[in-house]
Amino acid sequence: MANVESENAEQAFGVYVHWPFCLSKCPYCDFNSHVRHAQIDEARFVRAFETEIAATAARVGNRSVSTVFFGGGTPSLMQPATVGAILDSIGKHWKVDPNVEVTLEANPTSVEATRFKGYRAAGVNRVSLGVQSLNDASLKELGRLHTAQEALDAVAIARQNFDRYSFDLIYARPRQTTDEWRIELKHAISEAAEHLSLYQLTIEPETPFATLHAAGKLVVPNDDNARDLWDVTQEVTAQAGLRAYEVSNHARPGAECRHNLVYWRMHEYAGIGPGAHARLDVEGRRRAIATEKRPEAWLMRVESLGNGVITDDMLTREEIADEFLLMGLRLAEGIDPERYKRIAGRELDPERIATLTSLGFVENGSDGMLRVTQSGFPVLDAVVADLAA
Ligand SMILES: C[S@@+](CC[C@H](N)C(=O)[O-])C[C@H]1O[C@@H](n2cnc3c(N)ncnc32)[C@H](O)[C@@H]1O
Ligand code: SF4
Repeated sequence: MANVESENAEQAFGVYVHWPFCLSKCPYCDFNSHVRHAQIDEARFVRAFETEIAATAARVGNRSVSTVFFGGGTPSLMQPATVGAILDSIGKHWKVDPNVEVTLEANPTSVEATRFKGYRAAGVNRVSLGVQSLNDASLKELGRLHTAQEALDAVAIARQNFDRYSFDLIYARPRQTTDEWRIELKHAISEAAEHLSLYQLTIEPETPFATLHAAGKLVVPNDDNARDLWDVTQEVTAQAGLRAYEVSNHARPGAECRHNLVYWRMHEYAGIGPGAHARLDVEGRRRAIATEKRPEAWLMRVESLGNGVITDDMLTREEIADEFLLMGLRLAEGIDPERYKRIAGRELDPERIATLTSLGFVENGSDGMLRVTQSGFPVLDAVVADLAA
């Protein structure tokens, strides 16, 4: 059985909080998000979040929280007081780093932007806005409830309230040309202070987009066109000083999302709320933990059992090593082969590294790190599969 490295003292520790509700379901999205027409009883959810935070803290013990991330669903539908109560509870059960990064995902509608000031007062210091596109026709096709102007207004309100903000765009959309994307991306960069998440549209199984796609009614760019759009993305962001520090994430140096780095560097994180995932070291062993996804079932579980956990597995050495490659190779900084050796109990295969290097897909940095190159990123899944085999 694998012994987790005893690096906890120096490692970041993140807390992910999931708010599972949205005003409507976007046709491309397979996140754990639900639409409810009745009023959500936020006070009841706060009590359940507090219960789950207390149970998790009792289990993992002493940790210093370096990042908190409110994700969804649509966390910007929460009242600021709800966010404040959850943060207070985190502070009651764990030590919190004085420089803690507290991010909240927000949908850029005018109603949600009115809560930004309240979120800041509650302790949020970074927002991530789901802008998705700066083109109204695309926003409509993506089923979004906001216009491009409304999104830009929300970005302006974010800028007034937070030193740190980011926004998400989806590209490789139906009929999107490289010229259009170049203009849209430059416009986005002129509005983005320090961080952008740029995702290629993925057709997720069992979504309305998957049905339309299967029926030939939704045509997305083919591999060559998607590759051209990816190249434009890298070129335009690099020129603007927003380098890709991860496959889909771009930031000015020092402005990376520290919470997401916790995942990619395979540090520890707690998962609170319906359908949240966690990776925690309990008694020196890494565990993969997940909670009940359905919001009402999660509530009842927490209220009756004291936590919403439905799976709680001790990972094997092989599983931890695979996850280390899968997450770490997404990062421009790459992975430390020595850490791989400590986790896996064996070295990465030098022959495979030599072949991937000769193909130009990976390189060894002068800092000793192994990283995927710009040519390797578009075939990242294959590179990871090869190294993990
Ligand atoms: C949990 S969602 C966003 C939060 C917020 N509810 C929103 O929609 O603005 C996180 C991000 O994942 C991206 N995303 C979701 N589904 C996607 C898909 N099928 N393809 C590409 N990106 C997707 C979107 O950019 C979205 O902002
Ligand atoms: S993309 Fe965001 S708003 Fe749309 S359904 Fe998914 S989580 Fe909700």
